[in-house]
Order: sequence, then structure tokens, then C-alpha cells
Amino acid sequence: MSKFKRYTITAALPYANGPVHIGHLAGCYLPADIYVRYLRSKNEDVKFICGSDEHGVPITIKAKKEGITPQQVVDKYHKIMGDSFNEFGISFDIFSRTSSKTHHETASGFFKTLYDKGIFKEEITEQYFDETANQFLADRYIVGTCPKCGNINAYGDQCENCGSTLNATDLINPRSTLSGEKPVMRKTKNWFLPLDTMQPQIEAYIDSHKEWKANVFGQCKSWLSAGLQPRAMTRDLDWGVKVPIDSAEGKVLYVWFDAPIGYISATKELTPDWEKYWKDKETKLVHFIGKDNIVFHCIIFPAMLMAEGSYILPENVPANEFLNLEGDKISTSRNWAVWLHEYLLDFKDKQDALRYSLCANAPETKDNDFTWKDFQAKNNNELVAILGNFINRTLVLTHKYYDGKVPVAAEYTKADIILLEEMSRFPAKIASSIELYRFREALGELMNLARLGNKYLADNEPWILIKTDAVRVQTTMNLSLQITANLAVLMEPFLPFTSKKLFSMLNLNSGLKWNDAERTDLLQAGHQINPSSLLFEKIEDEAITAQVNKLEASKIANQTEADKPEDELSLMQKTAAPAKPDITFEDFNKMDVRVGTILEAERVPKTDKLMKLLIDTGIDKRTVVSGIAAYYKPEDIIGQQVSILVNLAPRKIKNIESQGMILMAENNAGELSFVLPAKSNMNNGSNIK
Ligand code: MF3
Ligand code: ZN
Repeated sequence: MSKFKRYTITAALPYANGPVHIGHLAGCYLPADIYVRYLRSKNEDVKFICGSDEHGVPITIKAKKEGITPQQVVDKYHKIMGDSFNEFGISFDIFSRTSSKTHHETASGFFKTLYDKGIFKEEITEQYFDETANQFLADRYIVGTCPKCGNINAYGDQCENCGSTLNATDLINPRSTLSGEKPVMRKTKNWFLPLDTMQPQIEAYIDSHKEWKANVFGQCKSWLSAGLQPRAMTRDLDWGVKVPIDSAEGKVLYVWFDAPIGYISATKELTPDWEKYWKDKETKLVHFIGKDNIVFHCIIFPAMLMAEGSYILPENVPANEFLNLEGDKISTSRNWAVWLHEYLLDFKDKQDALRYSLCANAPETKDNDFTWKDFQAKNNNELVAILGNFINRTLVLTHKYYDGKVPVAAEYTKADIILLEEMSRFPAKIASSIELYRFREALGELMNLARLGNKYLADNEPWILIKTDAVRVQTTMNLSLQITANLAVLMEPFLPFTSKKLFSMLNLNSGLKWNDAERTDLLQAGHQINPSSLLFEKIEDEAITAQVNKLEASKIANQTEADKPEDELSLMQKTAAPAKPDITFEDFNKMDVRVGTILEAERVPKTDKLMKLLIDTGIDKRTVVSGIAAYYKPEDIIGQQVSILVNLAPRKIKNIESQGMILMAENNAGELSFVLPAKSNMNNGSNIK
């Protein structure tokens, strides 16, 4: 038996600055929902908490972009997000918001408690300030190069490339995202959570959770071994929860201080009994999040809770990795996403098809790719062909042979008894995967129960036997119906819409719970089932092509100005440059050009065009500075083959010694492209002549 009496399950509060896409769903809302629905089915006492994160720079930046107030931004997206979650059956007990009065009171009360306990270090430090915008630059107001991994677009609080948490002052070559300018330093007072002195406590806490997912535990350990730093819990901004002390005019709480407290405020709004969900040791607190939130939920929030003293700590933080889309990172700004509200316009009532494919393909241990082809295959070859097919055959035959009345089972054969045994083991099998946060595995087991059913029908061939052994068919159909009923119970956490439909077709009480599925007689002989219809429909190629085309269109629409070819006429008017004077073959032969591969690439700071590359030439590895930064992104060209002139005398460019030259084609519009062999079997060092 579990040592816990009740559960507080949270899903990361999404920033209210855009609609919800499949990456959000796969990352935390779907696994959290499956977990909670399962717990409810086990009759556990559970509260499922979420809401929108309405503070922080992501909101104010969006407001600026849309030319509306931050309040208008959060009102708009809180509604859109809440509707999408609802439509996809994400069954929060509450979807609150951090702009609520309760939240402001709770968050500022929490801060005040820590302040009164003398937890914070009050410090005057130099922070970046944008003189044009007349504003301090915290968090996402500032970008620069990550000191850990070299990503040139790291934010002031975090690098999304390597996941490090940063302070704005750690950034190399910082720039303001408001004005694009280099910020100046200005003195200001802030309150710091002394994570450095708290490290031993935090370390002991993390070490007591070796059962956490490897990706989560590993990330925590690596932060700890790097040594925790004090972290400012206040910001010089005007959008957020006001810092509740006298000397803090014009300051608000750091969004990552207030947002996780949002879980507590939302619980308060949900139930007057909220304290037992947060302060009783017999409550299991689990945070579902995406991997970019790990440090905040595993280190900073627990540190806040420890410092406060009266709260329980998260028992687990099952973070998922990221979901990509058709081989590319999901991006709101590039509109490279499948938006939930748009999906439903094209795939009406097919919520479960998406839930299924996102769960079957969930990025549980590594980043994963969502492709429309795979979505179609999962729907057609699994939902339709395995689960739908079994249930449909069972229901259709029951109507045909028995007018929809569950037949009496006659004598069981040996095979029937084995089937019954196998059937009764599924609830425990699926449960144990869910309890270990292995939702893909759990869903796989659910499908195995449908496979078992299909095999049973195929082995017994009731459609043939009906002519010769009607009694035997009664038993076969009775047992197939029992499997169907168990499927209705066990699929509920994953496919709630289908489960509901199936319960109604079976004319069965949808209040049946998980443990009922251990029984093999949920449908009594003589029970009348309702008319049946298909649970899943095949998705045709045309529907998939339309989605792929839609994505392609958004790719084209989002190319930057620089990427756009000039209009055709002006390109045609330009002719190719005239040929240069003749050279001899000996002249040509002096050039040593080779095939090479780019191993590393980073932009040269303070230049627009230059990129520093490390090339494997087959002869050696060398550094080359190349003027391609306007046409290629560093992350896109690592691993790319190129042609390199290896015997060009070294030259210093921006203080970097460049040992060769990458050959580029340049068109009339001045666009650059690598020149490389047309076959892929040209190893590094191959001669180009
Ligand atoms: N808004 C954050 C994000 O979308 C998540 C906040 S989770 C909470 O990445 F714990 F702070 F609420
Ligand atoms: Zn980084």
C-alpha cells in the first residue's frame, strides 16, 4: 500500500502569452491528466491544479508586440488556453490564474514570511539597464551568449539550449531585447535567496530521490556539482506581484518566485481544506513539467518551501523532454506548431486520436518528433485496426447473433481460462507503468489487451462456428464482451472521450473504477447493450497532406526579409558577372581544395556576418572564419559537409586566425550557399579538382 493518503498533482502554469500547441500537451498536460484520471479511478483523493502564469517578461513582451496592455494579453490567452485544455479533456480541478487576488495575497504573504525570517540577502548590485527604454533588463528582456554552451540567444535567466539557469550578468555580449542596444550597468537593490548556503539541505533532498527520472535527477546533480548561487527573487519591473516591503517601490517578485506559489493559491481557491494538500506529510505532491522547468521545480521552489518551513516538498517531478514537429523545433514566433484550437477545426471530435498519438510518442526519455504521417499511422494502424476493430467486431456480432443481449457463457475451455487469467492481470500491469510515469508503456499494455481480444476472436472464429456450435459461440462472445467492458474502464485515463462513448454503447455505468476491471464479469448475461457505431475513423491521405502543406506555407510566410528572393523580374535583369582573365592549369593546380565537415560553429561577437567554424578537413581540424552568418544558423550547419581551400595562407580576422576558406556559391541577389559534392560518400579530405 502507498504511504500516501492523498495527492496534489500540478501541471506547469503556462505563460498566458499564446495558445496551446501539441508540444505543451505532450510535455506535461497529457501525462498529468492520465495520471490524475488513473488516481481518480483508483478512488484516491486527488486535486489536479493548474492555471495561467500571467506575470513575467514573456507577457509584457507580447503586450508590446500586439500593442495592447499586459492585462489584455493575459485575459485573452487565459481564456484561449483554458478552452483548449477543456476541449481536449485535460481535467483540472481548477485552472486559475496568477493575476487573481488570492494569488497576489498568497505570493506576497509567502515573500513576507521569508523576509521576516531573515532568509533573504539584501544586496545592491549592478544590473543591466537600457537607457533608450529607460528600464532595467531582467530575464527575457536581455539576450546574449550563454557562457556554458555558446548559444547566442540565451535569455537573462536561462539558456534554452543547454538548460542552464543564468543571471543576466553571466551573459557574454548582452543586448537588450527592447532596443537591441548594448545595456549599461546601474545600481539597484534586490533580495536574494541564498541557494549557496542552502546547498547542503537541497543536496540531501535531491539525494533522497534517486528514483526520479534519469533526465531530472541528472540535471539536478549537475547544477549541484557546479555549486548553487544566490538568486534574486525580486525584479525592477512594474508588471507582477508588488514586493511587500517599504523600501521596494517599483519592484515586483521574480516571476519564478510567484508562479509556483500559484499552485498553492489555486488550491486555496479550490478548497477551504487546501492546507492538507500542501502541509500534511501524507500528501504526495507531484509536479508535471517540461524539461526547461526542471531547476525551478527541483531546486528553487523546494528551497523556497524549505525556507518557509511549513510545507511538504515535491515527491516527484516527472519532466518530459521536448516534442519537435516534422523535424524542427516547435516555435510560436515562427508559427511552427500544431495549435490545439486549429486541430479541432480540421479533426472534429478526434481529440482522442491526438491524445493517443502524443502519448504513444511522448518525449519521456528523449526529444521526439511528431509527424503527421506518424499521427495517421497511429490512428489507422493502431486505434482503428487494433482497438476499434476488436470492439467493433464484438459489438456487431452481439447485435447480429443475440439482438444485443449479452449471451450466457457455457463451459470454459482451457484456452478460456488462460484468457481470463491474462485479462485480470492488465489493471495491475497498466497501473504499475502509470505509477512509474511510463505512460507510453502503459498505453502499450492497454493496446495489448485489445490485441489479446483480437487474437481470441481469430482463434475461435465465432463467425464460422455459429453454424455448427452455437453454444461455444455464446462463451466466446460473452468473454469478448467482458474484455470490451474492461477496455472501457482501462482506457479512460488515456482516451476519455472514447471511453465515455463505449460505456454508453455497452449501456454500462461509467462510474466503474479501475479495480472493477480485475473482474471478468462486468457484463451480466442478458444485459442489453445499445446500438453500436465505429469508435475511430480512418484518416485519409488528403487530410494529412493538407496539414503538411499548411506547415510548409507557414514556413514560407515566416522566412525573414533577408531570406526572400527578390522578385523575378529584377533577378532576370541582372546578368551573371563577366568571366575573369584566363589562368593556366598550373595556376589552378596550386589550389588544394578538400571536402570537410563542420564540427563546431558560433557567431563572431560584434559582427553581423562572421561565423567561426571548426572544420574536419580529413588532414586536420582547423578554425576558419567565414562570412556566412546572415545565411546560416550555427545550430543548422554543424555536421554539414563543405568544400574548403586548405592552402590559403592563414589570416587574422577579428583577432581569430583563419586557416582556410570555405567555398561558397553566390547568386545575383547576394545569397550564399555551400558548394559540396553531389554524392554523400565523399569522405573528409577528398580532393576537389
Ligand atoms: N510559465 C512557465 C513556462 O511556461 C511555467 C511556470 S510553472 C510554475 O515555462 F511553477 F511556475 F508555475
Ligand atoms: Zn547554454
